[in-house]
Amino acid sequence: MNENNTGYKNIKEMAPSAEPERQYYFIKETKKLLKNRFEEYKTSFGTFPKYCVVTFGCQMNARDSEKLSGILKELGFSETEDETEADFVLFNTCTVRENANDRLYGRIGRLKHVKAMNPHMIIGICGCMMQEPDEIEKIKKKYPQIDLIFGTHNLYTFPELIYDLIMKREGESVEIADLGNDVLFSSDYKGRHNSGKRVISVWKDTKDIVEALPNDRKYPFKQGVNIMFGCNNFCSYCIVPYVRGRERSRKPEDILNEVKALAEDGVKEIMLLGQNVNSYGKNLPEPMSFAELLSEVERIEGIERIRFMTSHPKDLSDELIAVMAASHKICRQFHLPLQSGSSSVLKRMNRVYDKERFLERAEALKKAMPDIAISTDIIVGFPGETEEDFLETLDVVEKVRFDSAFTFIYSKREGTPAAKYEDQIPEAVIKDRFDRLLALQNRISEEECKKREGKTLPVLVEELNPHDSKLLTGRLESNGVVHFEGPKELIGKIVNVRLDEAKGFYYMGSLND
Ligand code: SAH
Ligand code: SF4
Ligand code: F3S
Repeated sequence: MNENNTGYKNIKEMAPSAEPERQYYFIKETKKLLKNRFEEYKTSFGTFPKYCVVTFGCQMNARDSEKLSGILKELGFSETEDETEADFVLFNTCTVRENANDRLYGRIGRLKHVKAMNPHMIIGICGCMMQEPDEIEKIKKKYPQIDLIFGTHNLYTFPELIYDLIMKREGESVEIADLGNDVLFSSDYKGRHNSGKRVISVWKDTKDIVEALPNDRKYPFKQGVNIMFGCNNFCSYCIVPYVRGRERSRKPEDILNEVKALAEDGVKEIMLLGQNVNSYGKNLPEPMSFAELLSEVERIEGIERIRFMTSHPKDLSDELIAVMAASHKICRQFHLPLQSGSSSVLKRMNRVYDKERFLERAEALKKAMPDIAISTDIIVGFPGETEEDFLETLDVVEKVRFDSAFTFIYSKREGTPAAKYEDQIPEAVIKDRFDRLLALQNRISEEECKKREGKTLPVLVEELNPHDSKLLTGRLESNGVVHFEGPKELIGKIVNVRLDEAKGFYYMGSLND
């Protein structure tokens, strides 16, 4: 046994078993390792190691990337936006539609040459796509440039996995810990050592929620806050429940303490995140509804705007609408995913509401808050969707008059019930329906945008306009974008702006304070 080996084994054995202490311990150990090798690395890097986290997918993934980025910064890496000049590139993936997967393979293919010139370079992949064993097999076979793979459930073990990877690259025989969870895929598990140089560790699911990981916040004035993880709904087209696992709610005190700390740090706007926020708290030892949680968050001083995402129409309660209507902080914006306007398609999608119920819920929102902006998600070309079904979708779009809509072409996801449905729709038919839906929604979005023209409304100033540095860019409560002239000192503040001209999807305005 060489000296290094004893060191590795000792360090693993001495690691605390409680989390997040264990991961902070591995951050400390990895930092020591990197420091020892700094001179050696520096000669080939030329500078201190840089990292780049590339994020695909939804707000949940964006939030996870902040944690991953926080860990890399703690280790002493500095950030770069350019993956070709980074020494550590991590792709945080999405698999909700097929094209998300294709985009990833294009990106990692291009990095092969970059890696050939930088022997210390590490390329990792994590996130939803890595919960699919077929994708892992594909990477193992076709993409030798990938060094590290982990999944959604063991994201918090990132520090320990980096430590294992560095040691493995130096010739150690490593053993990847399961930390009490069922393993889906692992390169070096319980003595089953693999001769390659990569580390793969993916779990089937987990019951744990690990709090207080390092964090690298993207904006000083707004922040996403997880309130729950996973999804239990199993809509028949959707892969999310398979890759994100069962619903787990964070304890209210953990959420509230996080929001309080953010408020003290100057954050004005928070976005509460979950795949179905309406089922928040159902499985807590002391159950609590989402509406109750919102009321608690509302009381936190310093927070001026509250948003949340996503709310499933099936259990959008009157209680939630009432809490929103009475609130001065919850933004008058609601993302209410329709998916389809046809009751029979909705039934086969397992959405548990029908066209009438959706229209009734949208109406209830508008009645309680006439100025509310409703946005939605719509899938075109679900298996078996007839022209009549599609016309029902257009009908709901006409009736609800969404401010904006994310429209998606149905993508077949292996392992979901809908992938087995026989009557998949021909591409040309889908394309035609998609274009008609888009044309209708664009017209409605423009008309809805126009309705606010001339009004003076509060805007949270977010940044200098990337195309014209004389202009500032901010967001309305409705989530609409406004450009206006003003000093950059206003970034992070809420100011009143007159919406001079509606431009379809955004406004040109002027400061009115
Ligand atoms: N939890 C959220 C949605 C998360 S996924 C909800 O239930 O509303 C975001 C959006 O991706 C979904 O609303 C849906 O419109 C779309 N989507 C999910 N699976 C899809 C698939 N197989 N094909 C096309 N679009 C899909
Ligand atoms: Fe997917 Fe449905 Fe869950 Fe949303 S609610 S994540 S669409 S299964
Ligand atoms: Fe994609 Fe995973 Fe979000 S599949 S949409 S990144 S939960």
